[in-house]
Amino acid sequence: MTISEYQSLIDLANEARKLAYVPYSNYRVGAALRTKSGKVFTGVNVESAAYPTTMCAERVAIYKAVSEGEREFDVIAVVTDNGGSPCGGCRQVMAEFGLETRVLIADGDGNLVKEMTVAQLLPEAFTPGHLVNG
Ligand code: THU
Repeated sequence: MTISEYQSLIDLANEARKLAYVPYSNYRVGAALRTKSGKVFTGVNVESAAYPTTMCAERVAIYKAVSEGEREFDVIAVVTDNGGSPCGGCRQVMAEFGLETRVLIADGDGNLVKEMTVAQLLPEAFTPGHLVNG
């Protein structure tokens, strides 16, 4: 993917962020996931009055993709006001579908803050491979 394709994905995640349901934290997160087949799925965080049942933007995007039959991902863009990092739970779910997926972390102005692979984001990941013959 080119730099401008990366920027488009960041912009989509930032646009999706407007739809975040965040009455408790007011911390808006948007994600845009591009599959290897070229489809894009967006996600936002969806909070709940029962706080632990809140779902992160990254996982909403991944679950949308998986529920539509997509399991191979190229890149995921994650946008917050302050360029915050994906949480541990989201890193684990990203790792489930491939350690080489690229992760773009951007701020609310759409500026890329960090870029890395899932393997770099979650070193020594526990993966599906660990369960084979386990
Ligand atoms: N959040 C995400 O959507 N993704 C992350 O990786 C970190 C946290 C959300 C969950 C909650 O709605 C808000 O940010 C504050 O934790």
